[in-house]
Amino acid sequence: MPSKWTSLLGWWFLFLQMVHGVTGDRPCNRKYFGRDSIVCVCNSTYCDTQAPVSVPPVGFFIKYESGKSGKRLARSQGLFQDRSFQPDLVLALEPTQQYQMVKGFGGSVTDAASINILSLTPSTQNNLLRSYFSEEGLEYNMVRTPMASCDFSTRPYTYDDWPYDYELKNFTLVEEDIKMKIPIIQRAKAMSKKPISLIASPWTSPTWMKTNNQWTGKGSLKGEAGDKIHKTWANYFVRFLDEYAKHNLTFWAVTAENEPTAGLIRNYPFQCLGFTPEQQRDFIALDLGPALANSSHKDIRLIVLDDNRVHLPFWAKVVLSEDSQARRYIHGIGLHWYLDFIAPIDDTVGITHRLFPDYFLLFTEACTGSQFWERDVILGSWDRGNQYSRSILANLNHNVIGWMDWNLALDLEGGPNWVKNYVDSSIIVDVASDTFYKQPMFYHIGHFSKFIPEGSQRVGLTILQKCLTCSLEHVAVIRPDGVAVVVVLNRSGKSVTFGLSDSVGLIVTSIPANSIQTYLWRRE
Ligand SMILES: *[C@@H]1O[C@H](CO)[C@@H](O)[C@H](O)[C@H]1NC(C)=O
Ligand SMILES: *[C@@H]1O[C@H](CO)[C@@H](O)[C@H](O)[C@H]1NC(C)=O
Ligand SMILES: *[C@@H]1O[C@H](CO)[C@@H](O)[C@H](O)[C@H]1NC(C)=O
Ligand SMILES: *[C@@H]1O[C@H](CO)[C@@H](O)[C@H](O)[C@H]1NC(C)=O
Ligand SMILES: *[C@@H]1O[C@H](CO)[C@@H](O)[C@H](O)[C@H]1NC(C)=O
Repeated sequence: MPSKWTSLLGWWFLFLQMVHGVTGDRPCNRKYFGRDSIVCVCNSTYCDTQAPVSVPPVGFFIKYESGKSGKRLARSQGLFQDRSFQPDLVLALEPTQQYQMVKGFGGSVTDAASINILSLTPSTQNNLLRSYFSEEGLEYNMVRTPMASCDFSTRPYTYDDWPYDYELKNFTLVEEDIKMKIPIIQRAKAMSKKPISLIASPWTSPTWMKTNNQWTGKGSLKGEAGDKIHKTWANYFVRFLDEYAKHNLTFWAVTAENEPTAGLIRNYPFQCLGFTPEQQRDFIALDLGPALANSSHKDIRLIVLDDNRVHLPFWAKVVLSEDSQARRYIHGIGLHWYLDFIAPIDDTVGITHRLFPDYFLLFTEACTGSQFWERDVILGSWDRGNQYSRSILANLNHNVIGWMDWNLALDLEGGPNWVKNYVDSSIIVDVASDTFYKQPMFYHIGHFSKFIPEGSQRVGLTILQKCLTCSLEHVAVIRPDGVAVVVVLNRSGKSVTFGLSDSVGLIVTSIPANSIQTYLWRRE
């Protein structure tokens, strides 16, 4: 054995002792509900946690692994090897191929999520919030919250349901904000070591501003861009931001409208407000853009679309065209996944990035269990976890800067939701027993959120492959502290040995069947 490897061995034993001394890891309390995998159960006195991530010196790597058969963010470590043994499949880091800077990962504080969280006893609530936001959990750094109600509310409302209150004199936050969402976001911020970026999205305007005078169904703002109603709706955004600022919550971004195409559909079942791309462009150019620019929130990012990628690149071509007066107010494009199966990523996200490289792409919403052919809540579905990590990998590999889950927590039914549009969530709360279940989806998103902080940059990962049957899905980033991170997903029922290659050497490793792994190592 060459001498540098011998001296590394010395480090190795030192490191093993270090790792042994680390405290803070508590294992998953597994529960099996008869599906393809398990959930981790937490209550007021017990919840699985992670010790803070500490990356060993050059020459070592650490690995976190979760799998269908039951591992959850299980940590192990190993040594780089010399290159005498080359596996059939090698993933080679290409640090000179540099792509997007990562913004982050997170989920949504809806009314429903807040009701579920606050229905637990205070110490169980803390275990839940710590699971998402603290260093012992997933270290989320983004939170999206609806401006007023959405389907995941117990009633439809806005902040000014007084007809024709054009001055917004009666604009007021409601109990859902003051007693539920704001305190939860503040607690999340307090337990996070990183700054949390907040995003707000409206579902509907007050009904008196709408052509159909209703919360639901096909309806848009009355009149046209530049008029009194449109100006009032733009000022409503500013008032919302002002009111949250009074509670020390300032926003990183707003989206111009959640799913603007929903309000173009007859009989749409929950809160919506229709915009065509032309209407969104003109509303931003004449009303929303100037209102934000002339407010104390002038540095806020404005995100368009916030809807399924099937509308790309068409939507972007209209709203961000050369002659669009809106484009100077806009920073990014928000993506939802609900129609991904009819919209290949290259033809939508890929083309849009090539056409408009100066505008970021951000994934703002996803959940499983939303399609009519799916069950709402499945406790312990590994397949649903795979859906999350596949989407995150594909999006990161197409220059998307971050990925956000929908409701942070739902009940056993997948609600509450005032129109019974129940879906699944990464955390399901069981109020009766004061417990909550961390689903496979929770850990799949965690394999990214916990290890890829804001400011990381995606880099190339070349596949050197001799075996035709080997296929993995993967992404590589380099963090601001120089640490390399590679996430690897294997959805097959077969384990495969592969190599990870970088200037510091070669990792020879394997990924079990139906597993996801995150590798971290120092490069200098
Ligand atoms: C919480 O769960 C742990 C682990 O299963 C158990 O030992 C403990 O009794 C539970 N606590 C309560 C209050 O139920
Ligand atoms: C504001 O609310 C008050 C009741 O609190 C009502 O009397 C008044 O008409 C409302 N003003 C507007 C402009 O809607
Ligand atoms: C906001 O933050 C300031 C300074 O940190 C603090 O004095 C004030 O009490 C906070 N206000 C609220 C409503 O939390
Ligand atoms: C900008 O805001 C001020 C007060 O905040 C208001 O008086 C003025 O009319 C606004 N200007 C525009 C162009 O909206
Ligand atoms: C991973 O999964 C694919 C199919 O998804 C399978 O063909 C392959 O053998 C598995 N293992 C590796 C390392 O590619």
